[in-house]
Amino acid sequence: KIAAIVGCPFSGGQAKPGVDRGPINLVEAGLIQQLEGLGWKVEFDGHHQFEEISANGDPPIGKLRNPRIVSRVSKAVAEAVGYHAKMGKLPVTLGGDHSLAMGTISGTLDTHPNACVVWIDAHADINTPETTESGNIHGMPMSFLLGLGEKISEYSWIQPRLQPSSLVYIGLRDVDAAEKRILKENKIKAFSMHEVDKYGIGKVVEMALDHVNPKRDRPIHLSFDVDALDPSVAPSTGTPVRGGLTFREGHYICEAIYETGLLVALDLMEVNPSLEDAASVHQTVAVGCSLVRAALGETLL
Ligand code: ARG
Ligand code: MN
Ligand code: MN
Ligand code: MN
Repeated sequence: KIAAIVGCPFSGGQAKPGVDRGPINLVEAGLIQQLEGLGWKVEFDGHHQFEEISANGDPPIGKLRNPRIVSRVSKAVAEAVGYHAKMGKLPVTLGGDHSLAMGTISGTLDTHPNACVVWIDAHADINTPETTESGNIHGMPMSFLLGLGEKISEYSWIQPRLQPSSLVYIGLRDVDAAEKRILKENKIKAFSMHEVDKYGIGKVVEMALDHVNPKRDRPIHLSFDVDALDPSVAPSTGTPVRGGLTFREGHYICEAIYETGLLVALDLMEVNPSLEDAASVHQTVAVGCSLVRAALGETLL
């Protein structure tokens, strides 16, 4: 029972500064001691140091912003996550922006080729280099992992080996028109907030797992974007969208995934401690720690 914290102070997949401070704040809030309190042995040898490439040293490729640094950082993260996973540890990646998931999921699949992905987010993050409106790569990691859209040679290290049927979303409510088309064309299962309202979170998680993991025998990579939560619960994030998951709904998802006994990797992304006031930052960091604890076995009783 060893968790390896992969701290990723990185913001290059989107435009707002500060999300690189997310992992630092989560660790400073005591996350490591909290996980030790749950009985985990926790390995943390400092946050990753990503070499600096200045903005004008990394000109756009097509619409993609900071394409080289995002690729290099994600590749380094893939190696770190893959290494920990191979050693039988549970990699817990703290972002940083969600472009890092290209790395975390690639690392997971290196060790667990049969893993499925449960993606908790307000957004689908499945734009391709052609469909992106923002150019922000944190809105695109899923398309790279699935091998959709134009191939960019800078990203040729990503083996597009995730099947659309191995991915499920919960929490969506801000999906671009082109992304809706991509989800339909590839028959990707998604439970938006509409389904959460209609069925309740318990049923939604059960249906989500029935889709990607019907026999409950596949390893699970849980990628949690804190903006899946309602902004009243997690205000300090770069792309907040109203109408999100409640505190309990977010925690329920983590608890239910832990209960499967199949969790092999966890991402907690998009905490930005430079947005909103001090109380909001404190609240968002605390909820981030608490989601990680729930996914690592904290129970209410
Ligand atoms: N769909 C929008 C875009 O492509 C927003 C993506 C937000 N992603 C995130 N990881 N917060 O830019
Ligand atoms: Mn999001
Ligand atoms: Mn939008
Ligand atoms: Mn996201």
